Amino acid sequence: MTRRSFLFVLGSSRPDGNTEALAREAAEQLPSDVEQRWISLARHPLPDFVDLRHDGDRVRPTEGSAALLLDATLAATDIVIASPLYWYSVSTQTKRYLDHWAGWLRTPGLDFKAAMAGRTLWGVTALADDHAEVADPLVGTLHHSAAYLGMRFGGVLLGNGSKPGDVLSDTRALAHAKTFFAREALPARFPHETAA
Ligand SMILES: Cc1cc2nc3c(=O)[nH]c(=O)nc-3n(C[C@H](O)[C@H](O)[C@H](O)COP(=O)(O)O)c2cc1C
Repeated sequence: MTRRSFLFVLGSSRPDGNTEALAREAAEQLPSDVEQRWISLARHPLPDFVDLRHDGDRVRPTEGSAALLLDATLAATDIVIASPLYWYSVSTQTKRYLDHWAGWLRTPGLDFKAAMAGRTLWGVTALADDHAEVADPLVGTLHHSAAYLGMRFGGVLLGNGSKPGDVLSDTRALAHAKTFFAREALPARFPHETAA
């Protein structure tokens, strides 16, 4: 069996925020033989995405944050998008990372879609609102992105908080974090694929 390797993509625009704190609580439960890599998109900013998908001369990035993130993404069996809830969806930094996936999908020689198929996408988010359902757009974005790439989806771990550290008082979220990565991730399917 392939050794599991988790990539945590930190999407907050500030260091040491609630999303990262919650992700670290969940990661603590991972077995010691599971590799963990943590990359902050704020510390490794991606350039704005430019849509060159239909220009024939796209090449694989070989330096900078794009190369770092592409290589780390391809090396992981499990990708954890740890993004705060910004305007009901993912942060700009996280969205830019996902936009780069669209470029990697069309980069000759990469076969990004085939490489990602069967891997698992997870989400972790912190939000100030007490109503978890306001995060549905973020959950849908991650679920549908996983479905598009033929990935498994492990769901989204939600925690409540506004200022850094608040989430550590969300006892429900902390309890959920203890078992979050132990759950079985199912193949992600679009609603129209699962409709009877
Ligand atoms: C630009 C921005 C947009 C936000 N949008 C929402 C939102 O739509 N719903 C919500 O509940 N909280 C929202 N918040 C609050 C953050 O989700 C909350 O402070 C969270 O703890 C930030 O995560 P972090 O500590 O990991 O950075 C927003 C905060 C910012 C800065």
